[in-house]
Amino acid sequence: MTGSKGTPPTYPIEGHDFFVFTPENQEKIEAILKKYPVGRQASAILPLMDLAQRQCGGWLPQPAIETIATLLKMPVIRAQEVATFYTMFNLKPVGKHHIQLCRTTPCWLRGSDAIKSICETHLGIKPGEVTPDGKFSLTEVECLGACINAPMAQINDDYYEDLTPESMKNILQNIATGKSPPTGKVSSTKAKKPLVEDEEGDL
Ligand code: FES
Repeated sequence: MTGSKGTPPTYPIEGHDFFVFTPENQEKIEAILKKYPVGRQASAILPLMDLAQRQCGGWLPQPAIETIATLLKMPVIRAQEVATFYTMFNLKPVGKHHIQLCRTTPCWLRGSDAIKSICETHLGIKPGEVTPDGKFSLTEVECLGACINAPMAQINDDYYEDLTPESMKNILQNIATGKSPPTGKVSSTKAKKPLVEDEEGDL
């Protein structure tokens, strides 16, 4: 879950030097906080950071981290520790479509190098970068728990699995033109049933 998060931006950044939750999110926060025992509201930090990140267009500015720390009555450094530990929190702006490419061993063995390469070539960016039009950003992450259909990538909240360079390019082209390509297992070329022993103990 951990990894390089890049250099956090220096503030103020236009539109992000101050943060307040929207009234709609404030209502959600009230409901979230009620789920925790009195005195344990700091445990709500992950859902609150997720709300803040979504409100900010996919990343978590420092003022949002400070607002959450104040709201949960915890030292800012504790909130920063959480934000910098979990790679799902982005500490600098990302594209409208944020690609998280799994690079852990099962995905690497199944061709994540080629998936990374097609992303870089097609989008003209390297990991950690955003396309000039702000549509896409690319980052490399550790296992996202879909190894059975490696290689895979997560784009915003959706998983795309069993990728090939061609299918990845197709997905990027579809997203760029406002379409929603099918999520989940992209290719139908491989059987992905679990191995089960027969009566003789053979697989
Ligand atoms: S190794 Fe890529 S999803 Fe697990």
